[in-house]
Amino acid sequence: MQQTTFAIIKPDAVARNLCGEILAAMESAGLRIVGLKRLRLSKLQAAGFYAVHRERPFFESLTDYMSSGPVVCVALRGENAIAAWRGLMGATDPAKAEPGTLRRKYGQSLEANAVHGSDAPETAAFELGYFFNGLEIVE
Ligand code: TYD
Repeated sequence: MQQTTFAIIKPDAVARNLCGEILAAMESAGLRIVGLKRLRLSKLQAAGFYAVHRERPFFESLTDYMSSGPVVCVALRGENAIAAWRGLMGATDPAKAEPGTLRRKYGQSLEANAVHGSDAPETAAFELGYFFNGLEIVE
């Protein structure tokens, strides 16, 4: 099934000049980049994005980190794109992520884990709409 999912190259990876390698990995996996933008989130915008985690103990630190520098946001389209991108990213904690996954390769800590990916169709719809308007996703 063709799907569109949402990805972020997080501040730690942008700061270390890894955008090209991560975008190349997306394309090598057969996913198409159908939307792309660089921006810097405010603390409030980061909190809106991660609102599902607002009661979690790591929320303050996570939203500080996500607003600490520029990110690159990507709309990705392909066959089972949500699971395909999650698989390429690897587990949340880079130390536990499978060898070869992006988080294993590029993640620095549980928080600074290099990339984000939507985990379900409803989350993908919310996250794509949070960052892109209709004119900015071109299939
Ligand atoms: P989560 O949605 O559980 O993971 P994923 O990004 O794999 O979907 O958590 C969101 C982000 O919050 C995660 O990428 C890193 C951060 N985080 C922490 O900083 N500490 C934690 O204990 C957890 C579970 C996540």
